[in-house]
Amino acid sequence: MLEIKNVSKIFDNRIKGTKSGVRNVSLKIMPGDIYGFVGDNGAGKSTLIKAVFGEYRKDEGEILLDGVDVKKNLGLKRIAFFPDQSIYPKGINVQEYCMLDAKIAGVKRALAKERFRTLLEKFGLSNYRHKSFKDLSAGMQKKMLLIITLVSKPDYIFLDEPTANLDVKARLEFMEVIKFLAKKGVGILITSHIIDELQENINKLSIIDNGNQVYNADFDKTAEKIIDIYEKHSTKVKVDTDKMVDKINVNSKHHDEKVNNQKKDKKAQKNKK
Ligand SMILES: Nc1ncnc2c1ncn2[C@@H]1O[C@H](COP(=O)(O)OP(=O)(O)O)[C@@H](O)[C@H]1O
Ligand SMILES: [Mg+2]
Repeated sequence: MLEIKNVSKIFDNRIKGTKSGVRNVSLKIMPGDIYGFVGDNGAGKSTLIKAVFGEYRKDEGEILLDGVDVKKNLGLKRIAFFPDQSIYPKGINVQEYCMLDAKIAGVKRALAKERFRTLLEKFGLSNYRHKSFKDLSAGMQKKMLLIITLVSKPDYIFLDEPTANLDVKARLEFMEVIKFLAKKGVGILITSHIIDELQENINKLSIIDNGNQVYNADFDKTAEKIIDIYEKHSTKVKVDTDKMVDKINVNSKHHDEKVNNQKKDKKAQKNKK
């Protein structure tokens, strides 16, 4: 089990006098789980993940892998991170990239090559082994990156908005790969602000709203709808209404200004005559 226990990471903007980040997030990820971590843009999803992987130093909390601090016993090597923006050299041959990634994870080249070959076959990408990323469609790139992550055989995998920028077909295909992994016993945490794609796939749900974890429970797709839970627990609906009112005000202000200017123009033209 991978346990995230009361983790907080606060960004204190002294100039603006505002605080952001995440407060007191707790998640228990079991092998085979597909855990949905849902929240609006800016809610704090990426911040939590970065705190888990040590990219941000957390202010509070613990991360325990089978009860032991993840920083001990090379624990972090058992967890793979699939970032929201993939940074990789577009011109590199995908197999070479995979070998580099495997090397960092401590997997021997021959073994990595064998695993890569099997995974490419499994996901219908064998013909692309010697291509570079720029030769692949956006959907294929994501799938390829996921396959590369899998070569190091992680026990857990964190995916931050993995389907952003993918079309519906590629998104569905990607979710099929995720389901396959979960069936093999990999524990998965997946963040998204697109709620409908998670509905059919997750078995646990946590909602983060403005840095606060407002919901965390098992999820039964046959009896519950993420959207209902989200609307009940998130403050987004209220915020959006505020935004809409602002927008209406701004629009009507613009409209008033436009009408006034038109009137002025007409007057000016009359005066000229
Ligand atoms: N490095 C940083 N410095 C200051 N503020 C940050 C930093 N990273 C994230 N934040 C702030 O923390 C909040 C959560 O951001 P983020 O975790 O990226 O949200 P999400 O991934 O849910 O869209 C936002 O208000 C964001 O501006
Ligand atoms: Mg994010």
